[in-house]
Amino acid sequence: MTTTQHDQTTKNRAETAPSLRIAVIIASIRKDRMGDVIGTWVAAGLSRSAALNGLSIHVDLIDLASVSLPSDDLLEPGGGPRSEIADLIGAADGYVLVTPEYNHSYPASLKRAIDWHYSEWMFKAAAVVPYGVQGGLLAAEHLRGVLAELNVVTTRRTVGLSSPWNDLGEEEFTPSPETDKALGDAMTELAWWAGVLSAARRDQPFAL
Ligand SMILES: Cc1cc2nc3c(=O)[nH]c(=O)nc-3n(C[C@H](O)[C@H](O)[C@H](O)COP(=O)(O)O)c2cc1C
Repeated sequence: MTTTQHDQTTKNRAETAPSLRIAVIIASIRKDRMGDVIGTWVAAGLSRSAALNGLSIHVDLIDLASVSLPSDDLLEPGGGPRSEIADLIGAADGYVLVTPEYNHSYPASLKRAIDWHYSEWMFKAAAVVPYGVQGGLLAAEHLRGVLAELNVVTTRRTVGLSSPWNDLGEEEFTPSPETDKALGDAMTELAWWAGVLSAARRDQPFAL
């Protein structure tokens, strides 16, 4: 395909593609965390991937360090009283979960945020960007099972960041071009799932 054809295809796609909302969720709430810097890199990569593919994607950043969830004694099956991020989670067509690996799983902050919501997650798509000494993949695999219970489809692509502290500046995460590409590919896959599921929720709502 020539550059002109690619530009035209991208333009056509932009005119016909629905507008999507993706929430990037930063799981770490530690004071000296790196999760916020990685989350910013992910949000930028998502916007870049949308532009390259001619998609209209609105990105919401949900930083769990800035979120106060109600006390767990109010939690019930199916969630709890409406939280301050319920509307953002409910409005999203998809999520990117940016999570460290803590003791071979993902942090309690993220589990609380997941458990505090229910219908808001249903029939959406998610990609996981885990990080740790060896890519944080155990955190990602634990998340898949939990998300399946909420009818969240996870992308095949997982962007596991191994020892990301080696590529961390003061305020910027600058990994290799290969890692940037891996993020772009995962975001493209996420956008596909988010679009497909958005149409399915609208045209064929699941009722059981
Ligand atoms: C409680 C705790 C447990 C950890 N467990 C793991 C682990 O199981 N595997 C791993 O690769 N890194 C582990 N680490 C190291 C983290 O990958 C590293 O501290 C990383 O910076 C955490 O992300 P954050 O700074 O965004 O919180 C652990 C860190 C903490 C604080």
